[in-house]
Amino acid sequence: MIDKQERRAFLERGRARVRWEGEPLLGSVYGEEEVEAAVAAIRRAMTISEGFGFSGEPIPTFEREFAAYIGAKHGIAVNSAGPGLDMAMRYLRLEPGDEVIVPAVNFVAAPLAVVGAGGTIVWGEVDPSTFQLDPDDVARKITPRTRAIFSVHMNGLGAAMDDLIEVARRHPHERYGPLPVVEDVARACGGVSRGRKLGSQGFCGVFSFHTMKNMATLGEGGMITTNDDDFAAFCRSTRFYGMTTDCWGTSNVMTTVQAAVGRVQLRKLDDFIAARRRLAHRRHEMLADVPEITPPYEPPDRLHTFYLYTCLIAPEWAGEKRDRLIRMMDEEYGVKFIVANAPAYLNRKILQEHSRGWPLAQSEDIGRRLFCVPIHPAMSDEDNEFICAALIECIDRLR
Ligand SMILES: Cc1ncc(COP(=O)(O)O)c(C=O)c1O
Repeated sequence: MIDKQERRAFLERGRARVRWEGEPLLGSVYGEEEVEAAVAAIRRAMTISEGFGFSGEPIPTFEREFAAYIGAKHGIAVNSAGPGLDMAMRYLRLEPGDEVIVPAVNFVAAPLAVVGAGGTIVWGEVDPSTFQLDPDDVARKITPRTRAIFSVHMNGLGAAMDDLIEVARRHPHERYGPLPVVEDVARACGGVSRGRKLGSQGFCGVFSFHTMKNMATLGEGGMITTNDDDFAAFCRSTRFYGMTTDCWGTSNVMTTVQAAVGRVQLRKLDDFIAARRRLAHRRHEMLADVPEITPPYEPPDRLHTFYLYTCLIAPEWAGEKRDRLIRMMDEEYGVKFIVANAPAYLNRKILQEHSRGWPLAQSEDIGRRLFCVPIHPAMSDEDNEFICAALIECIDRLR
């Protein structure tokens, strides 16, 4: 809660120092340590007989450290999360008509991976309080053709992994057994569900170190985690032309310079998350008692990384009025909110052509009501206060 006097004071201090966006273009913080690590890796590569190598050090060390942090047996570094999701789907050897259940409120990467591997997307509803795939809806949508469940941990929070794994166990595929739960952890690196790090419980976890993510490796990068030896060998082979297992492959390798920077970022990750959480908690207080806004919910059994700060607007404000609020924040206060995400099938014909089970009323309603308020580990308390004061001011004026 901020009273009117405080609101005025926060606004009069002037605009935020940074032009904040709902998903800032650098999601982590870079310092001299990253620069030094990158320069040292380049210097090592200057020896003609070594160059940048073939997934040599420090890539294996980064993989081991990351896997240990997550609590998984294997870590396989890749050039971005997308190819990791593709590998998870290709490993299933889907046949035409095979189905994978994917949350509707989603980025396009996971559903496109299903399409790329020749499968059919079956859209699952998401829970409006957490924006995560709803295990009850998954149970309803499982058919004899279901081959996997895609748990996409949306916007910093984890899905109810235990419940999804339980649903998968209760509905085994006739030929392949319990359904694998594939975790897309691109937006929730470092998040925890019931005491377990995301990416450690499912069949595999796929992480993104893209510039906007909780930790970043020079713009692009990703990691696959798994406890499955065979899948780990498949990924190591697939990321470099299928050399070691004579399977199909292309080049999806990470560079040594990225891995060197990744090791530094990993050491800082928990502090980045702590900084996001501190800002989020302060923001919860400031936005409490604004009846039109439901701030993000953190279930007691999970740790939210607040990759995004995802709010839901009241039903009467859905769509046009929500969009007016977003425009007003941008035009009058220089703060950009984003909608992450409306159901992924809405604007992509290719996803519609390879899917069934839509439209989804609940997910579409969420898509018309959600908006993400900028948050970042380097955001100052003053900027956080300015953004909240501006948001309350805009709501007041639009009432
Ligand atoms: C939920 C989700 N999955 C996957 C990806 C793909 O990550 P990358 O850019 O590393 O391929 C993203 C990227 O924004 C994402 O948000």
